[in-house]
Amino acid sequence: MKKILVISCGGRPRGNTAQLTDAFIRGAHEVGHQIERVSLLETKVEPCLGCNACRHGKPCVLKDGFGEIVPKIEWADALVFASPLYYWTITARMKAFIERLYGIAAYDPAPPLGRYEKYPDKDCALLMTAADNFFWTFQQAESYYRFALVHYLGFQDKGMLLAGGCGGSSGEAAIEKTDWLEKAYEFGKNIYH
Ligand SMILES: Cc1cc2nc3c(=O)[nH]c(=O)nc-3n(C[C@H](O)[C@H](O)[C@H](O)COP(=O)(O)O)c2cc1C
Repeated sequence: MKKILVISCGGRPRGNTAQLTDAFIRGAHEVGHQIERVSLLETKVEPCLGCNACRHGKPCVLKDGFGEIVPKIEWADALVFASPLYYWTITARMKAFIERLYGIAAYDPAPPLGRYEKYPDKDCALLMTAADNFFWTFQQAESYYRFALVHYLGFQDKGMLLAGGCGGSSGEAAIEKTDWLEKAYEFGKNIYH
């Protein structure tokens, strides 16, 4: 059984993304995986300043919630990123969290082409919700996930669940009227099958 850290940043505490995340966790828990959950609404994480203190052996100058997430990242076999779609990509909160992974990279004396440091070996997955459900709705988010997390950081992709058609941000969360919660539950159950 695996240890899974779910990092979520739904705009609304009981919104579409929170519900999708709950369903994924229920499925994963049911088959015996251990789950830790961090909400970036509660644990505040600032974007990277790019000061490069971490590249000179110094601790990160930002003293915020990221420090308490680091041991959870170390503990986890997999990081699951859960975000609503904001202007065709992940939220700023999620992007800020991903930027801070810069601070946990290790020196790599012989990095592969296009990479400059070494990141921990992790599996990863992406859970997203959006109001629209066109063929292009998640294209930028999916592309960012593949470029940054899979190809650059080197995480092993365990899949994506891109839940379009969940209702706009001005109305009630409407994901329960779709079959995405059932799909998220199945994804949680089968992520390691
Ligand atoms: C600032 C903002 C930007 C959004 N941008 C998009 C978008 O580009 N495409 C889209 O389909 N939905 C967009 N939405 C709608 C949300 O992605 C959708 O309602 C999502 O399910 C909200 O998640 P939540 O219920 O977890 O807060 C946006 C909502 C907000 C608040």
